[in-house]
Amino acid sequence: MTNERALPGNSVLTERIQARKRELGKELIILTHHYQRREIVQLGDFSGDSFELSRKAAADRDCRYIVFCGVHFMAESAAILAQPHQIVQIPNVSAGCSMAEMAETQTVNEAWSQLQAETGEGSITPVVYMNSDAELKAFSGRNEGIVCTSSNAAKAVKWAFGKKEKILFFPDQHLGRNVGFDLGLSPEQMIVWSPGKPLGGNTPESVRAARMILWDGHCLVHTRFTTDHIAKMRSEFPGAKIVVHPECPREIVSKADACGSTSYIVKYVQEAPAGSTIVIGTEINLVHRLAQEHPDKKIIDLYNSLCPNMFKINLSNLLQTLSRLGEMNVVSVPEEIKADAKLALDRMLAL
Ligand code: 13P
Ligand code: SF4
Repeated sequence: MTNERALPGNSVLTERIQARKRELGKELIILTHHYQRREIVQLGDFSGDSFELSRKAAADRDCRYIVFCGVHFMAESAAILAQPHQIVQIPNVSAGCSMAEMAETQTVNEAWSQLQAETGEGSITPVVYMNSDAELKAFSGRNEGIVCTSSNAAKAVKWAFGKKEKILFFPDQHLGRNVGFDLGLSPEQMIVWSPGKPLGGNTPESVRAARMILWDGHCLVHTRFTTDHIAKMRSEFPGAKIVVHPECPREIVSKADACGSTSYIVKYVQEAPAGSTIVIGTEINLVHRLAQEHPDKKIIDLYNSLCPNMFKINLSNLLQTLSRLGEMNVVSVPEEIKADAKLALDRMLAL
């Protein structure tokens, strides 16, 4: 009964959104992250991982309104990269990211001062993950650093090692560690920085010996996966391939067959032969959508893990945003932060 009532509601909302899109034509672009609900992705003009979406926001110079269906840091990055005449809006401003909240300007500044005092000025390059506040991207830009996403983190880290001996990687320790391992660093060369503790909870010797200093942050969606989940899937589906996102802890990535950004996972499924069984360790909305889009393949979630923030965008708040273009939930970044943050984003786009 409830579903029967919900369905016409969704179709009416969808029709109204489509009508509004027709009315606005090239004035509007709707960007959707892969973790968005299926009905939102279907209404988008472009769907991608966080790198592709930022590149699209930087490249589309003609539209007037960019409506970003994703989480706040993504819309904020689009606002930094957009042209001055363009307005970026997010259907729900409370769609944040718990990982982005794990690094704050004050604690990062404190860590930076302690690290500089211990290792000497000019020995560390900051590499900030896209999943962070604009202020931290600005911090990175100001300190000769770079932004990275899950699809270009290895390139960004190599770039940073080409500049200086050490890297401060924040806020996701798991992405940083996975990249470090892939580039041949040993566990001892990667230390975890716990904000609030003197020297991040490390000894002066370990800080001096480290090549990568990994901020103690993580994604709640990707740290729900366990090695028991992998073992269970391997025994239930012996021929299956397991593909995971690099925000998963190292022990998960090392037991998977492949690892990459959300777009990498989409491509992995698209390119797998018909009849394949693929177990996916990432956000559940993407896994469900891939299963629906590829009925010739068996697509299974490693574990049902939802990002509550991505889920805050729905047809109703998208329609509301489209009805109040230029007014509702406009995402803007103060000019002084924007300039430095853009430096770090542009370095990433130029990689
Ligand atoms: P992607 O860059 O792979 O799209 O990931 C973004 C994200 O937030 C994953 O949790
Ligand atoms: Fe943030 Fe994790 Fe959600 Fe990505 S999946 S937006 S990192 S909480």
